[in-house]
Amino acid sequence: MSKVAIVTGGTRGIGLSITRALRDEGYEVAATYHGNDEAALKCADETGAKTYKFDVCDYDACVQGVQQIEADMGPAAILVNNAGITKDGTLHKMSPDSWHDVIETNLTSCFNMSRAVINSMRGQQFGRIINISSINGQKGQFGQTNYSAAKAGIIGFTKALALESAAKGITVNAICPGYIETDMTKQMRPEVLDMIVKQIPVSRMGKPEEIAGLVVFLSSDKAAFMTGATFTANGGQYMV
Ligand code: CAA
Repeated sequence: MSKVAIVTGGTRGIGLSITRALRDEGYEVAATYHGNDEAALKCADETGAKTYKFDVCDYDACVQGVQQIEADMGPAAILVNNAGITKDGTLHKMSPDSWHDVIETNLTSCFNMSRAVINSMRGQQFGRIINISSINGQKGQFGQTNYSAAKAGIIGFTKALALESAAKGITVNAICPGYIETDMTKQMRPEVLDMIVKQIPVSRMGKPEEIAGLVVFLSSDKAAFMTGATFTANGGQYMV
């Protein structure tokens, strides 16, 4: 029987590529989303994934959402915590809402969703949790105290949960994408983005598929010895 994967923010951007790539490998995929019904319909139509609408910032909604997914599809073997937003601005101009929204959506969501699946994974003695962090959680980024803090937090969360889960057959890893061609980077001022792309040694932005391929590998049995690790995919922009 096919394994079940949950991809948060799985209907657009990097998440959509992950959904597509996991489907291509034969997984059953539940792609969660928050707002964009049109993109969700398109994703379901194109990939054959099931889509589920709930807010990953809301703990109860995550527990209920996972219960629904598991009732429809069976226990989740793979969780990809991908949902994320930016609300860029320098700290001296940043509102408390911009801080909290980014921390809740990008970091607290990892707790909410992991908490909702972990006991079932422990029962199965198998699980793959893959958290999408960012280059900017590793190096910091001008205008992103909120986002860099959340994405750095994901790396610590990953390592701690990996330690707790290793004996139960569950691996927990983080991926740090660099600048990838998605709606998120399209929101940036073109002159700022141009300046950043000039700093990427491979002289281009990444493609969502280049992150999705790594997710597929980390989801597989071949990746059983990799846990608590942080994988970078950033065109050489920041070498750790
Ligand atoms: N380092 C040092 N100084 C910088 C700087 C940098 N990287 N960037 C800007 N500055 C300076 C500017 O030169 C300017 O100085 P002067 O006033 O002396 O000219 C000053 O800081 C103000 O800069 P801005 O005009 O850019 O300020 P702003 O308030 O208009 O805009 C901002 C602020 C919106 C944060 C803008 O700087 C910006 O968009 N920065 C990039 C943020 C970014 O990389 N976001 C990534 C989004 S995608 C993503 O996050 C995905 C992922 O995981 C990679």
